[in-house]
Amino acid sequence: MNPGLLLAFDDEQPAAAALAAALGVPWAQVQRHRFPDGESKLRLPPALPAEVLLLRGLHQPHDKLVELLITVPAARALGAQRIVLVAPYLAYMRQDMAFSPGEAVSQRHIAALLAAQVDGLITVDPHLHRIASLDEVMPGCPNRALTAAPLLGAWVAQQVPGALLLGPDEEALQWVAAAGQAHGLDHAVCHKQRFGDRDVRVALPALPLVGRAVVLLDDVASTGRTLVEAATAALAAGAASVDVAVTHALFVGDALAQLRAAGVRHVWSTDAVPHATAVVPIAALLAAAVQAF
Ligand code: R5P
Repeated sequence: MNPGLLLAFDDEQPAAAALAAALGVPWAQVQRHRFPDGESKLRLPPALPAEVLLLRGLHQPHDKLVELLITVPAARALGAQRIVLVAPYLAYMRQDMAFSPGEAVSQRHIAALLAAQVDGLITVDPHLHRIASLDEVMPGCPNRALTAAPLLGAWVAQQVPGALLLGPDEEALQWVAAAGQAHGLDHAVCHKQRFGDRDVRVALPALPLVGRAVVLLDDVASTGRTLVEAATAALAAGAASVDVAVTHALFVGDALAQLRAAGVRHVWSTDAVPHATAVVPIAALLAAAVQAF
């Protein structure tokens, strides 16, 4: 794809500028006005090229999803013929089955909603656990699920040579394997059971951890409880240090403070979600995917 313009929202200027620079294309803002009743007024550039790249990270997704439902048809009305969405964080991917009767499988419905809007989607480390690819929930919508795991692995290999990459649950095998294999680091995963939003139990793999520099690596940290439990267990098992590296730093509420209290030394993330812990930029990864799309 050779977009004529990158369109981005006013609260994601650093990410938009970085991606536009990596692509060598201009970028413009979707300006937002919040009415007193909570509705939004959106203003786009009045004339758009045929190929438009739209950047929108979907952490804290609700307002953003509604704004996308307005922005995409508005962009078409202003001249865009092909709109590809870059959503570095794709929301609702973890609700991928009905865990109890009657529960909505949000992954399927949010993915279908986006697929109906745009002509393509590029995202990073979506939580694909019970499905093999986004094609299963976005039929007919070309998509690319990138992984930042090798980039995180490179950062970890530089910061903590000889680290053991530990996924806090079985689902993390895909990310620790990709990061470990790319940079010659050992990897393993824990076993996790979740009982509630902030109630998880993590069992370590049968591996000697005494004296090891452990880096917990996962796709997303939300409440941080998964990482807290894994870090606590690893330190109790004799790990020399525990650091954390995640693609998507949601870190809601006191998550970071809880990690520190558990003895975690460093917390690193990519800038897929804007956050103070971001040390690994993904603009080049995204740009390469756009160019190949
Ligand atoms: C789910 O398995 C994900 O990979 C994360 O481990 C999980 O979403 C983290 O959630 P929290 O930080 O709330 O424990």
